[in-house]
Amino acid sequence: MLVCLTAHSAVTWLAADSCRARWWSGTHALGPLGSCRGGCVCFDSENSSGEFSEADQRVAGVTHVDTGRSNGLGKVGERPPRENGIQKHRTSLPAPMFTRSDFSVWSILKKCIGLELSKITMPIAFNEPLSFLQRITEYMEHVYLIHRASCQPQALERMQCVAAFAVSAVASQWERTGKPFNPLLGETYELIREDLGFRFISEQVSHHPPISAFYSEGLNQDFLFHGSIYPKLKFWGKSVEAEPRGTITLELLKHNEAYTWTNPTCCVHNVIIGKLWIEQYGTVEIVNHRTGDKCVLHFKPCGLFGKELHKVEGHIQDKNKKKLFMIYGKWTECLWGIDPAAYESFKKRERRGDQLSKSQPDDGSQKADGDVADAVPEAQETVQVIPGSKLLWRVNTRPPNSAQMYNFTSFTVSLNELQSGMEKTLAPTDCRLRPDIRGMENGDMDLASQEKERLEEKQREARRERAKQEAEWQTRWFQQGSNPHTGTPDWLYTGGYFERNFSRCPDIY
Ligand SMILES: *[C@@H]1O[C@H](CO)[C@@H](O)[C@H](O)[C@H]1NC(C)=O
Ligand SMILES: *[C@@H]1O[C@H](CO)[C@@H](O)[C@H](O)[C@H]1NC(C)=O
Ligand SMILES: *[C@@H]1O[C@H](CO)[C@@H](O)[C@H](O)[C@H]1NC(C)=O
Repeated sequence: MLVCLTAHSAVTWLAADSCRARWWSGTHALGPLGSCRGGCVCFDSENSSGEFSEADQRVAGVTHVDTGRSNGLGKVGERPPRENGIQKHRTSLPAPMFTRSDFSVWSILKKCIGLELSKITMPIAFNEPLSFLQRITEYMEHVYLIHRASCQPQALERMQCVAAFAVSAVASQWERTGKPFNPLLGETYELIREDLGFRFISEQVSHHPPISAFYSEGLNQDFLFHGSIYPKLKFWGKSVEAEPRGTITLELLKHNEAYTWTNPTCCVHNVIIGKLWIEQYGTVEIVNHRTGDKCVLHFKPCGLFGKELHKVEGHIQDKNKKKLFMIYGKWTECLWGIDPAAYESFKKRERRGDQLSKSQPDDGSQKADGDVADAVPEAQETVQVIPGSKLLWRVNTRPPNSAQMYNFTSFTVSLNELQSGMEKTLAPTDCRLRPDIRGMENGDMDLASQEKERLEEKQREARRERAKQEAEWQTRWFQQGSNPHTGTPDWLYTGGYFERNFSRCPDIY
């Protein structure tokens, strides 16, 4: 229930590390509510007095592991072999997701309203087996849009691709209500995808407040993509709003162009009762710092009857604010663009038509640009396409077993894969080596809970030790600085990760 976490808006929702209390989950359901002492929620299935003790490390078996389901998961080692030297990636997780038991989070949370969210610990059953650092790597799923941007001779066309990339980067959050693991301070994640033409490195550079810094580069020296993400969370009683902070920068090297933007606000509704759903809203402005062109995208709030749900609308303008191109679609589905004159005349006709009869939807307009063939099978297209529009991006279909895999996309499924031989080359701080995430991925929830507890205690102990010695934490691959294009505070990659000298990496696991 609680939980979202948005890849871009990056919520480190419920960062729980400083909280000593823990939730108990029995083999049945969670037990009665404990106290909210010290800002923590404490659960104990056997004793509801609210006492909790540090020493008591019992971790009861976790909620219903659904072993009866056969869903094509769990066939480890079935990965296809290398072909043409390109590594194939796994298509399913080693174990299916367990079902979350249906207990009332409300009964717990109503006692916690007003408390700092970061002090509330949720049971691991609400996690997904990924670190938040891996979750931000999901920005890269549609990296082909960056390559496409780089190939466009016209600045306007490049901006169209960049806008599509910015929207596509948040698409993986759709229906992803599992909470990623909070990265430990000093944790890193690397991803090299030769098939997709990029490599990526991220590091947790601050714990309070949580800040994740990332840096990616095209393998053909065509782009740099970097930023730092620090979410600001607000608990509104029924929903949690994550306001993204931190600038995202894309540099197209061949064009000597930098684009910057900030992600939209992500809101998780019904964190307490009802069905969880995720909404993104707010205005995203993508600036081309070389030309002064700007793309203004409005992520619409859902509105009264849900009519605007997931809608994105906006335009590209030049430095004199002249509208050059209109953009519309949904961040969950697809994005289209059209010439402003054609857009206006369509809107005018539509308004007129509305008074007489209902306007005709779609009516073959999609066929006009030959885009019918790659329609999304399951999620039906719900965006009304204006004749003459150009398809800028369409979401990838999720794998058929996605529902048993925390609603992961195919790209996401591969993120925590530990390919043979990888242990030897990975930094010792890499998320793939985190035993709690690995345990959860393998369906071993007891191990996952124990290890999570152990890692968090180890982190607290290290912090106490530093405090004693009055030592400052040293980040490894990123340094605090300011964004060269916007002047805002940022974390900049200092280089050298891929030379793989990991002798100075901290021991965090
Ligand atoms: C709960 O713990 C308290 C204090 O440790 C104890 O006095 C009480 O009997 C316990 N209650 C149950 C139901 O175990
Ligand atoms: C996955 O999506 C379905 C809706 O399609 C939703 O009911 C379910 O809660 C989602 N699961 C997770 C883990 O977010
Ligand atoms: C790795 O880095 C350490 C210190 O930063 C240095 O002493 C060592 O020589 C380096 N090792 C290699 C193989 O470059």
